[in-house]
Amino acid sequence: MEKRSSFTGKIGFVLAAAGSAVGLGNIWRFPYLAAKYGGGIFLLVYIILAVTFGFSLMVAEIAIGRKTGLSCVGAFAKLNKKFSFIGYLGALIPLLILPYYSVIGGWVMKYLAAFISGGGKDAATNEYFGNFISGATPLVWFAIYIALTMLVVLFGVEKGIEKVSKVMMPVLVVLSLFIAVYVMFLDGAWEGVIYYIKPDFSKFSIMTVIAAMGQLFYSMSLAMGIMITYGSYMKKEVSIENSIHQIEIFDTGIAFLAGLMIIPAVFAFSGGNENALGKGPSLMFETLPKVFDAIKGGQILGTLFFILVLFAALTSSISLAETVVSVIQDKFKVDRKITCIIVLGISLILGVPSALGYGILGGVKIIGLQFLDFFDFFTNSILMPVVAIFTCVFIGYILKPKAIIDEVEATAPFKGKKLFVVVIKYIAPIFLVAILVSSVLDVFGIVKI
Ligand code: PHE
Repeated sequence: MEKRSSFTGKIGFVLAAAGSAVGLGNIWRFPYLAAKYGGGIFLLVYIILAVTFGFSLMVAEIAIGRKTGLSCVGAFAKLNKKFSFIGYLGALIPLLILPYYSVIGGWVMKYLAAFISGGGKDAATNEYFGNFISGATPLVWFAIYIALTMLVVLFGVEKGIEKVSKVMMPVLVVLSLFIAVYVMFLDGAWEGVIYYIKPDFSKFSIMTVIAAMGQLFYSMSLAMGIMITYGSYMKKEVSIENSIHQIEIFDTGIAFLAGLMIIPAVFAFSGGNENALGKGPSLMFETLPKVFDAIKGGQILGTLFFILVLFAALTSSISLAETVVSVIQDKFKVDRKITCIIVLGISLILGVPSALGYGILGGVKIIGLQFLDFFDFFTNSILMPVVAIFTCVFIGYILKPKAIIDEVEATAPFKGKKLFVVVIKYIAPIFLVAILVSSVLDVFGIVKI
């Protein structure tokens, strides 16, 4: 058997996992959720969940991966045959996320193309996004994006992308900081800064928690087997706990900055009313071009910004695709090339309704949601909590937390041990069941929360 390659040293692991974690989830998804679900209160709930749930689940997943040396399907099967279904369920999620992720990746490419060709001014107008989304062009950009992702995976040149991305991420941080500071001084923006930073407890609702929890899974690439795979490449000498702290700080830091860039801008340009804040997936695309339009040299900054976002998105979609490809390849023993073509085909089919869902197919809804929102809701608010519940129950009561603790302590003392045990055994299962039930009841209109 081929020896499993491993990441060189600690920094290699952290960077690779951060490459998967930092993506559109941070830059595109986090700000629109924070804007919609109460600003500061969402931020607070998110951070609390990240350091408790996010931390514990990530420890569990990385440790399972490193202990078994296998990716998610094999890992659960090796630990306990009866629980191998968790691995399959987990592996299904990236397959459902990849298509709509690529639709948004396509939007990023469209905006990049607009800025490169000097169309930044147009992009800043109110009608631009609406015009774009109502036509058939989102389909073309989506197809280009997914094809690009699959080409990278097919030729195994992820390493190249990762290298470039390592250089680009710090640039993204600096650029975002600059934009955030610039935005802060725009007329009316300060109110937005307060809205985003200061928790207003009257804006708290169960929806805040549900949205924050889904975002946590999504942003940290949890509950879908990805971190298990990364863990399987991790060396024994690298501390699991420290690496996780670094990934969390990086991931949450970028999301925070993205919010700081976008939410105050919504106040400055659109008045920060409920309508403007509740835009959803289009928020970043409608807001940032206005910011670039206001900055001298914004055309260049905008171009640079969308290039950086594109790379962040690519490293994430590559890790999504890579997971799907490796599961199919292992399971059905098919050639990598054929597997890539199959995954491309499935993604194209599943992505088309999402690409057209805000335009031509705008009238078609599933449980009251547009296609893209439906896939997003189904994966983040249903499947991921389900996988997380099973994972917690499996580790807490079947495998027992000790197995994970031993794996962590093989390298260094486990400082968050108590927190980990309490979260995995008690808090997470109860809490996750509660939010799962409430989000299902809500979407089917049985209760309104
Ligand atoms: N975490 C990535 C992001 O925030 C998305 C992603 C999810 C990537 C799942 C891989 C797996 O953009």
